[in-house]
Amino acid sequence: MKAILIEKYGLPEQVLKLKEVAKPAPNENEVLIKIKTSAVNDYDWSIVRGKPYLYRLMYGLRKPKYQILGMELAGTVETIGSKVKQLKVGDAVFGDTSNYGFGTFAEYICINENAVIKKPVNVSYEDATAIPHASTLALQALKDIGKIREGQKILINGGGGGVGTIGLQLAKLNNCEVTGVDSQEKLGMMKSMGFDHVIDYHEVDFTKTGEQYDLILDCKTDKSSFSYSRALKPDGMYVTIGGKVVKLLKVLFLGKIISIFTRKKFKMLALKPNEGLDYISGLLEQNKIKCVIDGPYTLEDTPRLIQYFGDGKHKGKIVIQIN
Ligand SMILES: NC(=O)c1ccc[n+]([C@@H]2O[C@H](COP(=O)([O-])OP(=O)(O)OC[C@H]3O[C@@H](n4cnc5c(N)ncnc54)[C@H](OP(=O)(O)O)[C@@H]3O)[C@@H](O)[C@H]2O)c1
Repeated sequence: MKAILIEKYGLPEQVLKLKEVAKPAPNENEVLIKIKTSAVNDYDWSIVRGKPYLYRLMYGLRKPKYQILGMELAGTVETIGSKVKQLKVGDAVFGDTSNYGFGTFAEYICINENAVIKKPVNVSYEDATAIPHASTLALQALKDIGKIREGQKILINGGGGGVGTIGLQLAKLNNCEVTGVDSQEKLGMMKSMGFDHVIDYHEVDFTKTGEQYDLILDCKTDKSSFSYSRALKPDGMYVTIGGKVVKLLKVLFLGKIISIFTRKKFKMLALKPNEGLDYISGLLEQNKIKCVIDGPYTLEDTPRLIQYFGDGKHKGKIVIQIN
């Protein structure tokens, strides 16, 4: 089968190579999936370069421990292991495989059956692959941690990316007023998707506008907790899902101190892959949410696409069509 292989850390276009490798065979708890589509994520951009260096503790000190990256897929089950219970040959499935290893930038993957769920018939493979990681990040941040409520005033920092575009739609299902912050070239797309207000973060610091929010979902933490506190209403909550490591640690630490003296809360999400994906799948099936797709592109194009992701040029989710 064809796969994009990585042997050492470096820039995607220098270290990722399209190669022919043996097609894997499933063990007793695994299914062999013929991958139709995959998508590019922050993990791919970080692991390929081994940066931040903290990642090397988890993903290999001197070279990446996974040969094939990629963590989202949609495809069909081709063979099943003897102990597989929930899936059968021919099922169309999708999911975030990051809890069970990577390997979706390839024509086939063997993976634990719990890494995927069944794909609704009326949802395309492109949409299904674009949804698992970003949507569960948005759902767990807004609903499980943020306890989003009807009519709240919400801000999504990094609103034009994979998480932000789904986060907007989840917030709109709760009739919230939503402000999105991102770079200039994404603001038009964000307005047309339904953001009530948009802010170019290169021009305006949203923590200095005087506006205050019930809930801030931050995909790219890069300011101090005092700045975020200023942008929160008295009972407001700040939930971060990612950003610069040092800033994240500071926000969590100082956020706890601010919480002692005010009613404001500061939280960070640790993603539980695929948790809530059934709910999201239902929304997709009923056409209540839509995916914003950049692509689809080809498997051969993957190294360039990971660089494109790292350069922040994408709009929504970058999707790769494989089979
Ligand atoms: N908590 C967890 O367990 C967990 C797990 C996996 C991933 N993550 C995190 O989740 C996030 C993934 O978000 P995503 O998939 O939506 O990423 P994405 O598609 O890259 O979107 C991020 C958006 O934020 C914008 N942006 C960058 N810097 C910004 C800033 N300082 N202020 C405002 N906007 C900014 C980017 O635009 P430009 O690049 O054009 O500026 C981009 O449009 C990452 O931070 C990742 O580390 C968290």
